[in-house]
Amino acid sequence: MAARILVLHGPNLNLLGTREPAVYGRDTLTDIDGRLRRLANDLGVNVETFQSNAEGALVDRVQASRGAADAIVINAGAYTHTSVAIRDALVACELPVIEVHLSNTYKREAFRHRSLIADIAVGQIVGFGADSYLLGLRAAASLLLRHKEA
Ligand code: DQA
Repeated sequence: MAARILVLHGPNLNLLGTREPAVYGRDTLTDIDGRLRRLANDLGVNVETFQSNAEGALVDRVQASRGAADAIVINAGAYTHTSVAIRDALVACELPVIEVHLSNTYKREAFRHRSLIADIAVGQIVGFGADSYLLGLRAAASLLLRHKEA
């Protein structure tokens, strides 16, 4: 069975394309989801994407992934820096987590340097714009392949 990878987009990422393009680029979320689907097809994995501005909706989606996905790629947006609830849900689902950000959060304001997800993630990919998601998907796919082969 093909690996199932869930990609989660947090708050304000629905505005990509018009939101601070100098920081986040001109790709819309629809463009990014399309690129993720094409890459998933090339890699032979299944990808599902979900965006919400609501913390609880993201928690619900993480909870529902238990047993229904094999890995999570997440850009929790601003919730990265604040949400114990999303962190706890990610721990509870017991899936490998890859954290991604479009911008290099470490080059920005100090409050963006702290991630409540980083220390429970397999790894973090930051600063490559929309490519951060594609690199995250590649990382998840190769991680799952290594798992399968082990
Ligand atoms: C972001 C970085 C966060 O600090 C910010 O709140 C976002 C986007 C990124 O992808 O660079 O909404 O997660």
